[in-house]
Amino acid sequence: EREQHRSLVEVMSTAARFYREQLKASPRAVDYLKRRGLTGEVAAKFGIGYAPDGWQALDKAFPKYDEPALAEAGLVIDNEAGRRYDRFRDRIMFPIQDARGNVIAFGGRILDAGEPKYLNSPETPLFEKGRELYGLPQARIGIRETGTVIVVEGYMDVVALAQFGVCNAVATLGTATTPTHIQKLLRQADRLVFCFDGDKAGRKAARRGLEASLPHLADDKAVSFLFLPPEHDPDSFVRAHGADAFQSAARDATPLGRFLIDTLAEGCDLATAEGRAHLVHNAKEFIPKIGAPILKMQLVRDLAQSAQLGPDETAAALGLEVPRPR
Ligand code: UTP
Ligand code: MN
Ligand code: MN
Ligand code: MN
Ligand code: MN
Repeated sequence: EREQHRSLVEVMSTAARFYREQLKASPRAVDYLKRRGLTGEVAAKFGIGYAPDGWQALDKAFPKYDEPALAEAGLVIDNEAGRRYDRFRDRIMFPIQDARGNVIAFGGRILDAGEPKYLNSPETPLFEKGRELYGLPQARIGIRETGTVIVVEGYMDVVALAQFGVCNAVATLGTATTPTHIQKLLRQADRLVFCFDGDKAGRKAARRGLEASLPHLADDKAVSFLFLPPEHDPDSFVRAHGADAFQSAARDATPLGRFLIDTLAEGCDLATAEGRAHLVHNAKEFIPKIGAPILKMQLVRDLAQSAQLGPDETAAALGLEVPRPR
């Protein structure tokens, strides 16, 4: 298994090098990146490349195009007729790296309109979705220096933020944020700021991020949510408004506790007993999961206030143990 990993890592790094070289050879791809406002410097920092348009373009990088490792690495697809072809064709290639900087997967963006907009590597022995984060090795120093990690949705968001000097962002790659992601990130950072797209999908992703965070919260860590205007994602926002505006919005991000209680109260009319009961009912599924004991007590108090109950009654309603005076 060790051996297999090593050879897959080698295959992926060879492919990444090939895609980088192909980018230099493709004015169309370079032009696309320029139109998106990317500098050559930031493209190099993230190892961005280009997969040429062709069914077997990778045979130029791999003299043994038929070797099994190419399929195991998810770079090629074997069809039923036994013919092999490149998975990524005519796409901008974003290498996804593990914490040590090994390339373990790719995301490929179509240059023009078309479906899917992003094609990602399948799960392979190197790449387990839901564990990995795009941009982690590039963000390591920025995370250490600021004590903060910013979690965004997309490749372009990470790259654009870095270009503007916001060097502590990573992306969840379109999949939902998982508790594993949060655990990994809160080991490296004291503060985590979610900054998803301002659209409906982004707001839904924020709720998933909220849920995934609860078990890994700690009383000396802070998780917050930056909601962008509906027309923006971090890429478009930082280009339109600049890094200072982004940083100041990140500082003013909504603390997890407030976002949680607001979310729980959604659709509950707190002017009525029924609505207040509904709020506490909604909280049962979430507050007990909070891994930070003091924050949990604080939120029980906040909830009690909104619900117009006593804190002990509220804790009891949530099935939490109420500390008894002795
Ligand atoms: P978005 O649709 O917000 O794309 O998806 P984007 O990152 O803003 O990309 P640009 O600016 O149009 O180039 C957010 C992320 O969701 C994943 C990708 O990781 C993408 O960056 N995604 C999206 C996919 O995996 N497949 C898709 O077809 C679309
Ligand atoms: Mn989106
Ligand atoms: Mn987006
Ligand atoms: Mn975008
Ligand atoms: Mn704007």
